[in-house]
Amino acid sequence: PIPEPYQVPLPIPPVLQPSHTDATTDYYEITQQPAVAEIIPGYRTPLWTYQGTFPGPTLVSRSGRRTVVKHVNKLPHPVVVHLHGGHTPQDSDGYPGDMILPDGGHTDHLAHMGMMPALPGIPVVGSREYVYPFEQRAATLWYHDHRMGFTGQSVWYGLAGFHLVHDDEEDRLPLPCGDRDIPLLITDRAFDADGAMPYPSVHPDLHSPGVTPPYMNGVLGDVILVNGAPSPITRVQRLRYRLRLLNASNARRYRFELDPQPPGGGGIVQIGSDGGLLDRPRAHDSLQLASAERADVVIDFARYAPGTRVRLRNTLGTGRTTEVLAFDVSSHASVDDTMVPEQLSTMRLLDPATATVTRDFLFQNRGEEDGWMINGQPYDPARPLATPRLGEVERWRFITDVHHPVHLHLDHFQVLARDGEEPGPYDHGWKDTLGLEPAQAAEILVRFTDYPGRYMLHCHNLEHEDMAMMADYLVT
Ligand code: C2O
Ligand code: CU
Repeated sequence: PIPEPYQVPLPIPPVLQPSHTDATTDYYEITQQPAVAEIIPGYRTPLWTYQGTFPGPTLVSRSGRRTVVKHVNKLPHPVVVHLHGGHTPQDSDGYPGDMILPDGGHTDHLAHMGMMPALPGIPVVGSREYVYPFEQRAATLWYHDHRMGFTGQSVWYGLAGFHLVHDDEEDRLPLPCGDRDIPLLITDRAFDADGAMPYPSVHPDLHSPGVTPPYMNGVLGDVILVNGAPSPITRVQRLRYRLRLLNASNARRYRFELDPQPPGGGGIVQIGSDGGLLDRPRAHDSLQLASAERADVVIDFARYAPGTRVRLRNTLGTGRTTEVLAFDVSSHASVDDTMVPEQLSTMRLLDPATATVTRDFLFQNRGEEDGWMINGQPYDPARPLATPRLGEVERWRFITDVHHPVHLHLDHFQVLARDGEEPGPYDHGWKDTLGLEPAQAAEILVRFTDYPGRYMLHCHNLEHEDMAMMADYLVT
């Protein structure tokens, strides 16, 4: 029932308004609830949602101003909310043991955790308030479910949304803003004949965590959804637009390219990464994103003749999964008062000579029985893999067998090297997730700041994550 590409209009997720504000804080409330959406025209798709929509509503916060989000769980199973890229105190970070149990307090699912170790944390019933100080710079963050053993399933059914942070440094730049600043949450999904998108790798009782053997490498769909619409289309003026690209797919990697390329190439001008603005813009012909990575880019549609249809294509896809999004460039002339300055922000480079510790993390499949592991160890909160000290610079090395997008909670990091060479073309700026190639060793520098406690490092291929390719670290 999937429509041909570029027929459905691009939706923009609604921006959530605070329920109230005071001198220091904005308060929001989100109800997690089942909902039905018309993703395929004429069909009804059952979803799990934040506040009834997929993607969930976009939250917009100000750097330095506190945001409190109360999540109410009206879904029939536990949930956990993680703000991905948030510099967040431990008790609001969405550690998988800090569950919100459904109202009514059914706890039978806890008896079904099977292979999962006992998780530290404080489960609550019905609702939880997450407190985000936002002592961090402007960036494109996102929030999603982080339930132990079920993250792939929860995100697949719709539990993901944007949380944008703005600050003065960024506001001073003449970048496109307002309705020319467009968040794009990009996922792949597969639909059945009724228009439902059943998560394929699940035990029918919904109680057994983890992934069934055919999906150990990750669940892929055969249709690309942008902001919940199949390969949509939007009209643009002959002006610059800022696109916030988020790969929110469970396991799919993308390489985005404009088709046609503008004359002279370099049409995708990257201005930001996971952790906000780059020091200076980087022009790309193509841009690659692994699961959970973000790139803020500016595209100048004035470089195209009026009436051009510009497609954003995924050159790592095949057939339908190459078709992401199309822009129809309008024919009337417009004057653009925006630009992309040569200097975007000041990037203080961490100095490798100041690193106090070097730690290795091996991301490997240990065979049928054991599955995906870090350093050959099953996930065990009782044995954290690292105990970094607050404020110290550390050098971490990630070593892979196959593709793994490696994600750290709490702080952003800088990429130092890939296989001993210069970082890759998309490694600039502050990162929180790094898409590693097969059989690669990448080195990063990280400094954990402000909040001691228990945090996680894990693979963001959600099926690897649900097979417990995770580790805790204790920041002391
Ligand atoms: Cu986006 Cu620990 O996750
Ligand atoms: Cu992985």
